[in-house]
Amino acid sequence: MKVTIVGAGAVGASCAEYIAIKNFASEIVLLDIKEGYAEGKAMDLMQTASLNGFDTTLTGTTGDYSKTANSDIAVITSGIPRKPGMTREELIGINAGIVRSVATSLIEHSPNVILIVVSNPMDTMTYLTHKITDLPRHRIIGMGGALDSARFKFRLAEALGAPISDVDGMVIGGHSDKGMVPLKRHATRNSVKVSEFLSEDRLQQVVEDTKVGGATLTKLLGTSAWYAPGAAVSGLVQAIACDQKKMFPCSTYLEGEFGLSDICIGVPVILGRNGIEKIVEIELDDAESAKLQESAEGVTKTNGLLQL
Ligand code: 2OP
Repeated sequence: MKVTIVGAGAVGASCAEYIAIKNFASEIVLLDIKEGYAEGKAMDLMQTASLNGFDTTLTGTTGDYSKTANSDIAVITSGIPRKPGMTREELIGINAGIVRSVATSLIEHSPNVILIVVSNPMDTMTYLTHKITDLPRHRIIGMGGALDSARFKFRLAEALGAPISDVDGMVIGGHSDKGMVPLKRHATRNSVKVSEFLSEDRLQQVVEDTKVGGATLTKLLGTSAWYAPGAAVSGLVQAIACDQKKMFPCSTYLEGEFGLSDICIGVPVILGRNGIEKIVEIELDDAESAKLQESAEGVTKTNGLLQL
């Protein structure tokens, strides 16, 4: 199982580290445009192999896509991260050109690859990838909902005073500060609805804190987060590589599901060896459906900024 990660910055390197430590991939190639950067990060990570107990081999390359040839899975993290006060959508001008070039180069060397898009604005970058390549939709996956759901669970556990292992919850919709739809009605504490434990006001605060989870960290860190994004990507990669049939909310190209078409947005999907193996049309109540439609309008507006 060969995995390529384009962008050896904080997110890409964290993703590489988590994948290596989980020891399910035979090979990881890190690629960056900064001279020697990916090579250095790969070598540093390789020097943790005896300490962290993994056999995965990591190598780095400065822009040589031939080194990524025959990758099973490729992760696109390249692009600029946002600064405090910026929205993800403001990154489109620069990141669209980068994602277009990276996706094309990856497919040229790995025609059977499954792409995972992380670069922001992620739903629009996923849509762009769908439009500029002829990959089938089940092989283009946008990572946002897995990260947002992890932040939702963090906030739920915090509010409940419960261990994170007792909590479950999912965020669908656009990966944006305003467009996320945390499904508070579905969230549970060890199979019991969280509304049994939390007031509506406290639950709404959890929802609001979740939606700005990324911006909160960008304000604290001065740049976008990387540990949780990297970990979220590694979970998707593992589900595909190990054919786990796990369900995650991922940005995928919709063709009528949830009443939406010609858009990439976060919905529940089953991930396995073929990538997105099923789109799960869960039951949404009127309020949840309305929020998803509103989120889709925001994503479609951002998509309109692309020069396709
Ligand atoms: C985040 O929410 C980088 O979009 C990513 O942290």
